[in-house]
Amino acid sequence: MKTTHTILIQDAARMDKIPSGSIDLIVTSPPYPMIEMWDGLFAGRNKALALALRKKQGPEAFEFMHRMLDAVWDEAFRVLKKGGFACINIGDAVRTLQSDFAVYSNHTRILRHLLQIGFTALPMIIWRKQTNAPNKFMGSGMLPAGPMSPWSMNIY
Ligand SMILES: C[S@@+](CC[C@H](N)C(=O)[O-])C[C@H]1O[C@@H](n2cnc3c(N)ncnc32)[C@H](O)[C@@H]1O
Repeated sequence: MKTTHTILIQDAARMDKIPSGSIDLIVTSPPYPMIEMWDGLFAGRNKALALALRKKQGPEAFEFMHRMLDAVWDEAFRVLKKGGFACINIGDAVRTLQSDFAVYSNHTRILRHLLQIGFTALPMIIWRKQTNAPNKFMGSGMLPAGPMSPWSMNIY
């Protein structure tokens, strides 16, 4: 089979070179909201979000970040053919802000928006990846380093 490949360097929220209803499959791994390494990318595009992060307002920052991703999902829905597929690789985030430890459930927030705009949910593929760093939990893996620790009891 002969295939052709075109690389477009564009904002995923504005794929104006791609006609509506023309795409069979989208596979994407967006920046993960509330994982610290992506703070700068999100905050650089939204001053209110940057302020929320500076004030350590976790839920507000989470929502601002997801509103930016919502625009990407809206655009994905536009370019996909009816019956096309979007495969989204996303992890939840755990973070402590103002002494409050919390899980920021990225997959839940994304799925809610996808369903609102007309996507149909299909079974999730859960990658339970054990982290190889003793000081990391999620972000770098779904399981803590010691899989028999009390944390893993809570996850299952
Ligand atoms: C979690 S990383 C995925 C990296 C990718 N899997 C790879 O191997 O290069 C998220 C990527 O999305 C890119 N990104 C962030 N915002 C974007 C946007 N609005 N449009 C397109 N790409 C974006 C980031 O620069 C980053 O490379």
